[in-house]
Amino acid sequence: MLISPSANRVYARTAARMTANETAVFSAGALDGRIEDLREAELGGVPYLLFRSDTLTPRDLRLLANLSSLYALFKVREGMLEPLPVDRLDRYDDDLVSILKYAGKTNEQFTKLLLNVTAASAFGADRLLAGGLKVLDPMCGRGTTLNQAAMYGFDGYGVEVDKRDFETYGAFIQRWLKDKRLKHKALTTRVKREGRGVGQRTRVEFAADRERYRAGDLQVLEIVNADTVRSGEVFKKQSFDLVVTDAPYGVKHAAVKETRALTRSPTELLETAVPVWAGLLRPGGAMGLSWNTVTTGRDDLAAILAGAGLEVQEAEPYRHFEHRVDQAITRDLIVARKPR
Ligand SMILES: C[S@@+](CC[C@H](N)C(=O)[O-])C[C@H]1O[C@@H](n2cnc3c(N)ncnc32)[C@H](O)[C@@H]1O
Repeated sequence: MLISPSANRVYARTAARMTANETAVFSAGALDGRIEDLREAELGGVPYLLFRSDTLTPRDLRLLANLSSLYALFKVREGMLEPLPVDRLDRYDDDLVSILKYAGKTNEQFTKLLLNVTAASAFGADRLLAGGLKVLDPMCGRGTTLNQAAMYGFDGYGVEVDKRDFETYGAFIQRWLKDKRLKHKALTTRVKREGRGVGQRTRVEFAADRERYRAGDLQVLEIVNADTVRSGEVFKKQSFDLVVTDAPYGVKHAAVKETRALTRSPTELLETAVPVWAGLLRPGGAMGLSWNTVTTGRDDLAAILAGAGLEVQEAEPYRHFEHRVDQAITRDLIVARKPR
C-alpha cells in the first residue's frame, strides 16, 4: 500500500503507523483476520505498508480502498509492483470534505480514520459497503465527520453548541448541493422538548443521482445547535449505529478554536456527555472518540466509557493511535462497543 502524501506535515510523519493500525482493525473486525505480517517499509525512499494475504476477494479490496491514507495498492510479485484496482466508496466529489477550511477543523484524513476504525469495530465488510449506517457526531464543528459519512452513503447527524459553526455548516451544505446540481430538500426548524426550545435544526435530504432521489433512496445530513449534553432530548434512544467525535482539546491556542460555551473541562464534559451518547447508540453499535491525552488520561476515559455500559476495545492496534498534533495537543483515539 502506497501511503498518501498528506497535506499536513506533522500528520504525514505518523500516517504510515496510523494506517498500519487502521488496517489491523479492518482485518480483525471486518475481514476475519485475513491480513497478516503488516509492516511499514520504504521502497525507493517512499513509505509503503506491506502485508501478506492469500485470500483477499474483490469485496475485501473494495473495503481496503477506503483506508484513510491509502494512495495506491499493489500486488508484490517477484520484487515488482502490479497495480490493483482502488475503487473507493466515495459517492460525491471529494471537495465535500476539503472545501471548508477553518481554525479548529479536524484534519480530514484523521477524521476518516476515526470513522473507519469505529465502523470496522462494529460491522462486517458487507454492512460497511452497503451504506445506510446512521452516524452521530455530537460535537461536530463544521461537519468534517458528517461529510465523510455522506461520502460513504451513510446518514450524518451532528450537534454543535457554537452558533457560527452551526450556521456556517448549514449554509455550506446547501450551497454545495446547489453547486453540484444534486436534487435535495432543506429544512430549518426548532427542536422542542416538552414545549421548551432545545435548539435550531438544519436538515438536508439528498441523493447522489436522480434515480435514487425519485425512488426515495435519500441520504440525510442534519445539524442541531445545542449543548451536546442535551443530545438525548434531540434524538430518539438507540437510533445511531455509530457515534464518532473529536472532543475539545481544552487548550487556548491560535490554531484551535475553543468555544466560549466550554465552561466544563474536557474531562467533565466527557463524564457528563458519554452516558447520554451511549443511550443514543443501538446495541451492536460503536462509539469512537479522539481527545487530547494532555488533559484526559486514557484510563480515565476508558472508565467513563465502561461506566456507560460500553465495552472498550483493548486489542493491540487500538493502543497505538496516539500522535502529536502540536506542543499542547497529543491526540489519541478510543473505541467502545455497545453490547447486543
Ligand atoms: C475539536 S472540535 C471538533 C471539530 C470538528 N470535528 C470539525 O472538523 O469541524 C470540538 C468541537 O466541540 C464543540 N463543543 C464544545 N463543547 C460542546 C458542547 N458542550 N456541546 C456541543 N459542542 C461542543 C466545539 O465548539 C468544537 O466545535
